[in-house]
Amino acid sequence: MPAIMPTAVKFAFAFAVFAVLVALPFTCGKSTLHVERDDNLPARVPYVFPAPGTDKVADMIRSRRTNGTLLDLDGVLLNDQNLASTWSDLAGMIRDQNAIPANMRELFILRTGVLNDAAYVWLQHESVARSVGFTTAQLREIRFRPAFAHQALPSTPLNSSQNAAMLLADFMTKNVNVPQPVFDGLKKFLNNQQMVDAVATVGVYNLVSRFVEALNVDDKMDVPVPVPQ
Ligand SMILES: *[C@@H]1O[C@H](CO)[C@@H](O)[C@H](O)[C@H]1NC(C)=O
Ligand SMILES: *[C@@H]1O[C@H](CO)[C@@H](O)[C@H](O)[C@H]1NC(C)=O
Repeated sequence: MPAIMPTAVKFAFAFAVFAVLVALPFTCGKSTLHVERDDNLPARVPYVFPAPGTDKVADMIRSRRTNGTLLDLDGVLLNDQNLASTWSDLAGMIRDQNAIPANMRELFILRTGVLNDAAYVWLQHESVARSVGFTTAQLREIRFRPAFAHQALPSTPLNSSQNAAMLLADFMTKNVNVPQPVFDGLKKFLNNQQMVDAVATVGVYNLVSRFVEALNVDDKMDVPVPVPQ
């Protein structure tokens, strides 16, 4: 760009910046208003929702979903039957046969979701997390604590094993490389089978987060992760 811009260009540029700044609070405000678990807003591919009894894979997924209904995520996955079927096995194992306690599982899922800005993941799991005992203060800690921050905090509503789990999720998600002290910090609370499942839970939800973001499942790609109330 030339160092000296014509006045009209300068004006247009200043106006564009101004317009963005003015529009920003409205767009953010609008997107925070609309945050149901599944609004059935369009994704980047059509949803495939076969009627009950017409599709083996869809019926298998229904059987493990609350209320027996397919999620928007399932409707995207069902564009590829092989993927939907395999995904359901893995996600079902992480959800229902995980060797780690349900409380830690949900912490991993929410933390991984928020670090990836995946509102869809948070919206599906906040109620699950509450049902396994998380308080609003704890959920806000998971939502707002900066990555890698726990040593700096004088007090936190999370206990020592939960803080160790937060750090594992932070390093796996933001750094990929997990330092030995971070691994050992969580290993104090878990056996080998549970450590493997802990790492798999964070890994799988990094996949889920990236999948729902890149395919804009339920049009939640640009929606901020909700603030627990
Ligand atoms: C299941 O159905 C109940 C009653 O209609 C509803 O309140 C709840 O949100 C539903 N759960 C899910 C996961 O859709
Ligand atoms: C932390 O809290 C969770 C949920 O109540 C509990 O299962 C876990 O045992 C606690 N950890 C420690 C070290 O007290």
